[in-house]
Amino acid sequence: MSAASIRRLIGVAAPLWAGEAEVVSAYWTSPKRTRETDLLWLRRQCFKEFWGSGVGKYDRGGVVLGQLKNLLARGAEIDVSIDRYEILDAIDGLRAEYSHYCAFADLHDELRAAGTPRLNPHVLEAWPEEDALTALRYRHQDEHGALGMRACKFTEGGYCTLFSSGMALEGRPGVDGRIAAACAKVYDDEFEHMLAGIAGIAEENLGAADWQLMERLVAEQLKARIRMRNAQFSLPLSDARIAAIERGDIRPIEFDYARAQLAA
Ligand SMILES: [Fe+2]
Repeated sequence: MSAASIRRLIGVAAPLWAGEAEVVSAYWTSPKRTRETDLLWLRRQCFKEFWGSGVGKYDRGGVVLGQLKNLLARGAEIDVSIDRYEILDAIDGLRAEYSHYCAFADLHDELRAAGTPRLNPHVLEAWPEEDALTALRYRHQDEHGALGMRACKFTEGGYCTLFSSGMALEGRPGVDGRIAAACAKVYDDEFEHMLAGIAGIAEENLGAADWQLMERLVAEQLKARIRMRNAQFSLPLSDARIAAIERGDIRPIEFDYARAQLAA
């Protein structure tokens, strides 16, 4: 039951993950791409790494500062009401997210025009499609509790297609090679993190109706991710192409069952 259900859920997700990948790979060679749009997507990625929210127990208020504040506030509860390793996991996750912010912020600052200021977290802003994704995730958590949170964990990272398609620029001269290097730094920990979110579903004892609801929530979130990513990258895909992707007119991502340690 569970293995077949996971396969079906991955079957729902795989074409939508491919859609997000297509947004990013289309951008690299898009006529809309300029130094300005590169700086914009980097700032927006920094926003996501630093302020993004909605998928973790400790991250309301931002991935980095929200988690830091939460950890500080819970100091007195360590080994009293919170297990020490839960805190260690939170700190590991925090360190990883902060290092991703650093990687993209460094790249932004390298590429910026002479005389313009370096980036800092306080100048970063969300964009409407990013806000829509966050609002959808909070709504799913509010309306469906643990199941909504589980759906958020499943869709977090979007199969890391931003980073894998950035890494595909490796060996190209100039900016592209530097983008590849930054994405490579982030890819491995994000991929493991994301697989953990996917594999975690196997541990839940979901009934048939829960699996159906999970499929609906995951599809809604992944569609919102495609729009978030398309806007982040200055709209390389048309609305018509996105509608076609949503109808399934795309070759799905090949899910790595072995790496996820899930039975195929
Ligand atoms: Fe990250």
